[in-house]
Amino acid sequence: MPINFSRRLDWSLTTNRLAQALENKKPKYDLTASNPTSAGLHYPVELLEALNNTESLQYNPDPRGLPQARAVLNLGPHTILAASTSEAYAWLFKLVCNPGDSILVPRPSYPLFEFLAKLESVTVNHYSLQYSEGWWLDFDSFQNQLDANTKAILFVHPNNPTGSYLKKSELTQLAQICAHKNIALISDEVFADYPLINDETRAATLGNNGQCLTFVLGGLSKTAGLPQMKAAWLTASGPQADEAATRLELIADTYLSVSTPVQHALPAFLKHGQAIRQQIQHRTKANLKKLNASNLRPLQVEAGWYAIIPTPRTKSEEEWAIHLLEHEQTLTQPGYFYDFESEGWLVLSLLTPEADFASGVEAIERQFTA
Ligand SMILES: Cc1ncc(COP(=O)(O)O)c(C=O)c1O
Repeated sequence: MPINFSRRLDWSLTTNRLAQALENKKPKYDLTASNPTSAGLHYPVELLEALNNTESLQYNPDPRGLPQARAVLNLGPHTILAASTSEAYAWLFKLVCNPGDSILVPRPSYPLFEFLAKLESVTVNHYSLQYSEGWWLDFDSFQNQLDANTKAILFVHPNNPTGSYLKKSELTQLAQICAHKNIALISDEVFADYPLINDETRAATLGNNGQCLTFVLGGLSKTAGLPQMKAAWLTASGPQADEAATRLELIADTYLSVSTPVQHALPAFLKHGQAIRQQIQHRTKANLKKLNASNLRPLQVEAGWYAIIPTPRTKSEEEWAIHLLEHEQTLTQPGYFYDFESEGWLVLSLLTPEADFASGVEAIERQFTA
């Protein structure tokens, strides 16, 4: 009898049509770049010197993360380090959910939620983000989705790929729902350092909202453009934050996953990360300017590394992505990768090197108007 592997892994192993097309055609202009370390940015070698620290020869782990590493983050007493934001999500789902419980996640948003939740035996339900001259949270879409099994509401602030923030008034309403229903609020703020426009109405952070237990996530992968260093953090605030942090400490103690050298190097990574961040900010702004000057009609982007364009109705978004790859060697992501509720969107990465981005945008313009 063959082994029956866990149902947590029963997602489809078949490749999508775009991945199949990629096997035959390599892109010249890759407008899907999300890895800053292969985006042609300059990484100062001094970064690595911080790993050469004799204190790292000793192993004296602290389950919450070494105090000096947490101190440099300066995020408050209920901060815990993890190896990645993905790991922090897994810990939070273990903390607030029993197997079979559910979480509410925005749509469109970060595609990994389905996988992260399923690995913790947690069900994902969705609420909508709607667009009309900017993105807004559709509170009506909560009503059918909230039930006794809902244990957490997630928001990505600013969101990926919509680049939108929660507004102050929306936060008040969202935090009230969470407080009223005893649901935790989880806010992924990994892109918080990448605003592209100012807006007084946006919430600065979802943490410390004064109403509900809230966890804010951040990490080196976006803040410093250093995903390979594997360090992230979560901070609890609000009612029961102290108890939550104590319970999270138990989970973290079971794994002790953040390496000692990386924790000692965290102050230097954050310091040198500023220069990497500035390069990314410069690039995303320049690429957005190029896109806004094109005739591709991008949706408004407030922040982050991505932009969204509508596709002509003559083909599906997936057919457009394949068409652009085959006719222009230009790689884009169809909106369904991010669970858009409607069809007809392509997602472009603003992290793409500027010359490639410009050529890619021109190629898309050519095909959309052909
Ligand atoms: C919204 C969001 N959160 C988290 C991550 C991943 O962060 P980490 O590398 O810390 O797991 C990503 C990566 O693209 C992301 O888009």
